[in-house]
Amino acid sequence: MTSATPAVRPRFEDKLRAIVGEAGLVTAGDEREPYEIDWLRKWRGRGSVVVRPGTTEEVAQVMRLCNEARIPVVPQGGNTGMSGGATPDDSGAQVILSTTRLRAVREVDPLNNTITVEAGVPLARVQEEADGVNRFFPLSLGSEGSCTIGGNLATNAGGIAVLKYGNTRDLALGLEVVLPDGRIWRGLRGLRKDNTGYDLRDLFIGSEGTLGIITAAVLKLFPKPAARATAWVGCAGLEQLVRLLARVRDACGDRLVAFEMLTGPSLRLILDQVADVRNPLEGPHAYHALIEVADTRDEGLAALLERSLAQAVGDGLIDDAAIASSLSHRLSFWKIREGISQAQVRAGKAVKHDIALPVSVLPRFVEAAETAVRGVMPHAHIVNFGHLGDGNLHFNVLLPKNASAGKVAEANALLNRVVHDLVVENGGSISAEHGIGQLRRDELRHYKSAVEFDLMMTLKQAIDRNQIMNPGKLI
Ligand code: FAD
Ligand code: MLT
Ligand code: ZN
Repeated sequence: MTSATPAVRPRFEDKLRAIVGEAGLVTAGDEREPYEIDWLRKWRGRGSVVVRPGTTEEVAQVMRLCNEARIPVVPQGGNTGMSGGATPDDSGAQVILSTTRLRAVREVDPLNNTITVEAGVPLARVQEEADGVNRFFPLSLGSEGSCTIGGNLATNAGGIAVLKYGNTRDLALGLEVVLPDGRIWRGLRGLRKDNTGYDLRDLFIGSEGTLGIITAAVLKLFPKPAARATAWVGCAGLEQLVRLLARVRDACGDRLVAFEMLTGPSLRLILDQVADVRNPLEGPHAYHALIEVADTRDEGLAALLERSLAQAVGDGLIDDAAIASSLSHRLSFWKIREGISQAQVRAGKAVKHDIALPVSVLPRFVEAAETAVRGVMPHAHIVNFGHLGDGNLHFNVLLPKNASAGKVAEANALLNRVVHDLVVENGGSISAEHGIGQLRRDELRHYKSAVEFDLMMTLKQAIDRNQIMNPGKLI
């Protein structure tokens, strides 16, 4: 890697300025800082400069310049990622390319059920635009006010409606991408069928800024749900929740949108750390679920869910349930669920595991993982929650707030090995929705087969010949 020496940096900055103008460049140290620290405040780096192109053509010119000068580029959207993928290293040599000025909604086509947006458009804006034409964009994350569509695509984000609508990958039809050498791949096709060779779109989705800059996307829109019913459930064990999931699915079919899980200790943490939330049920429960069903027609949806849950209580499968009686009641349930990220940041330093397993395997996995974690850390504060309907758990361990960087790194290595070994033994994935970034790069190398890793490396070398795209991340 060639670093920008102080002697050449001003000239390089001038060249960038000539492309993006004064408004597109952030050079002062204190103004760069928000781009150099991640949302979790876990990673801090130092970029040489932050460049904010306003058009795809400007992105292409910036990439051409960086490629010729062999200057590494760190793509960044809303900077809400959970794996350190958007934070530069501390060399002061990497250019942060922020997409936050790529904000245009290029087209909304309700007849084709598509929306075409630029990468820096916040997720919440896409939801609003869809709503404006009586359509629905289903991707939904706790960070939706800040995260961008480009970041969602680059991480293949999941969230709370994957059960019905799939991951971001399932919601994208076409992409526009600037390659590391500055060429533009114009793949903005709004097609549901296109078998013209290798799927380049799926190659860039989930590539975490290591293959190119996603500058725009065509996304799928769906019919807008007219009715929703939301419930909060308490029960004694995970086995019961998994069986409840199957029952609710049988009863509600694909009207089931979300089935989120919080353990008793995870709920406790939220109640302690987040203002204006309260337990929806009387008394403590070992496990909780937030269940939501939705439909384009309201044909007794709430009654259907209520019947299903009443039967589950009657059969002794669950202990208690509350159905939201109003919009504000429903939002109060979601406020609890979405409070978990902030609650962890406030309470300590989390060793995070973002894992996926077959849903049927989860109860015995969790039992084994809790035993294994306590085997190496007897008083571990396990914070287990996640998207149970997708088999995706955030099986985290919370360390004290004053834990030193060394202690956190030590605990991370120890607990990752214990938990990830069990995940892989049980046919699971060590990265369900947050991506690899810098957090799990060593873990990826540890667990990927030689064939898979070699194929990934071959693609990386073919597309990013000078290795300038987000070095130190993913691969
Ligand atoms: P950034 O953080 O800026 O970047 C993430 C990665 O994508 C980096 O590797 C970066 O280099 C790359 N990148 C960004 N933009 C581009 C681009 N245009 N082209 C190429 N590469 C790019 N994630 C989930 O999956 N599910 C959740 O439920 C969820 N909940 C969250 C709740 C909270 C409160 C927070 C803070 C985060 C949550 N996240 C969740 C994580 C995060 O919001 C997602 O990963 C999101 O997709 C990141 O988008 P971003 O725009 O912030 O990307
Ligand atoms: C969630 O499910 O709430 C998110 O993935 C965020 C997190 O893990 O903190
Ligand atoms: Zn999640």
